[in-house]
Amino acid sequence: MNIKKEICRLILLGITVLALPASGTERVQAGVWNDTDGNPINAHGGGILEHDGVYYWYGERKGDHTYRSPGVGWECYRTEAGGVSCYSSRDLKNWKFEGVALKPDTADHTSDIHPTMVIERPKVVYNDKTRKFVMWMHIDNHSYSAARAGVAVSDSPTGPFTYIRSERPNNSESRDMTVFKDDDGKAYHIYSSEGNSTLHISLLSDDYLSQSGSFCRNFPNRFREAPAIFKKDGKYYMVTSGCSGWSPNEAEWAVSTTIMGPWTPMDNPCRGKDADKTFYGQSTFILPVGKGSDRSFIIMFDKWKKDDLVDSRYIWLPIRFNGDTLTIPWTDTVDLTGSATDFAAE
Ligand code: DGJ
Repeated sequence: MNIKKEICRLILLGITVLALPASGTERVQAGVWNDTDGNPINAHGGGILEHDGVYYWYGERKGDHTYRSPGVGWECYRTEAGGVSCYSSRDLKNWKFEGVALKPDTADHTSDIHPTMVIERPKVVYNDKTRKFVMWMHIDNHSYSAARAGVAVSDSPTGPFTYIRSERPNNSESRDMTVFKDDDGKAYHIYSSEGNSTLHISLLSDDYLSQSGSFCRNFPNRFREAPAIFKKDGKYYMVTSGCSGWSPNEAEWAVSTTIMGPWTPMDNPCRGKDADKTFYGQSTFILPVGKGSDRSFIIMFDKWKKDDLVDSRYIWLPIRFNGDTLTIPWTDTVDLTGSATDFAAE
C-alpha cells in the first residue's frame, strides 16, 4: 500500500464527510422539510398529537398565493385558507401526508372556513371519554377583527373533521391559541385576548367541545401571543412570543404551579445567534416525547415568510433544563431518526 496515497485518500474522505449536508438522519433547521411523497410539509402554526404510538402533525394549510389584505393598515399578509393538514409519523422524521383533515368550505361564502377567511394555529386533543378527536383553531376575517375560536370534531385522528361552530370564548376576543390536555383529562384553551394584551386560560367542557365557563386572565398588558405549554414535574411552563405581526421578536417563558395561575413571567429562553429574535421563528407547540425520566420536550417554531407564506419554514429545538430554569439553545440541525429520545433533558 502506498502510505502517502492512503493518507491523502483518508484526508479527502474526512473532508467530504464533513462537507456533506445533514444526512438523512437530520432536518436542517428552516430548510425545506418534505413529506414522504417529496412535497414540502404544509402544516404551519401547528401542533402534534401522539395517539397509539403515532404522531399526528396538524397545521394551517396555506394556499400558494400570498396577498396583502386591501384596506388594512398593518402588514396583513394572507393566503387562501386551505383548511387543516394532517401528517403522520412514528419517528418524527418521516411524515406521511394523511390529507386535509379539516377541509375548507368552498361553497358557502359566509362560512367560517371559506378560503377567504383565516384559519390559524389548529390544535387537536383526544377525549378519552367520548373517544373523539377535537380540534380548536383561530378563526378570523380579512382584517383579523372577528377574533374567534372555531371547533371541529372527528372519530379518527386523520379526519375528516366536522366543523361545528365558532365563538368568542367567554365573550372575549380569541386570536393566537393552543389547547393543553392535563394528566387528569381536563383540557384548557389558551388564547390571546383583549386586543392581544392578555392571555386567557379557559377550562373546556368535559367533551372539550365548548368552554366550561371557568377561565382566568394572565399576563395583563404584556401583549403575548403564540402560546405553547407543557407540564414537567408538576409545574406548568409556557413559551410565548411578543406581538409584531409576521415579524420575529423576543420569546419569553413563564412558569406556574397551577394551570390557572398565577403565572410568573421569566425571561427569554433562547440562546445563541439571533436569540433576541427567537432565531427568526415564532413558537407554536411544545411536544413531550418519551415517558418518565426519559421524557423530553421539543419546541416547534414557525419561521414565517410573510410575502410567500406557504414557503414558511419550521424550526424544532430541544428544551434544556437546569433545575426549574429552561433554555432553548440553537442547533443548526435536529436529529430525529428512529427515536426522539435524542432530545433528552440535561
Ligand atoms: C402573529 C400570529 O402569531 C400569527 O399566527 C398570525 O396571526 C400573524 N400574527 C398575522 O399577522
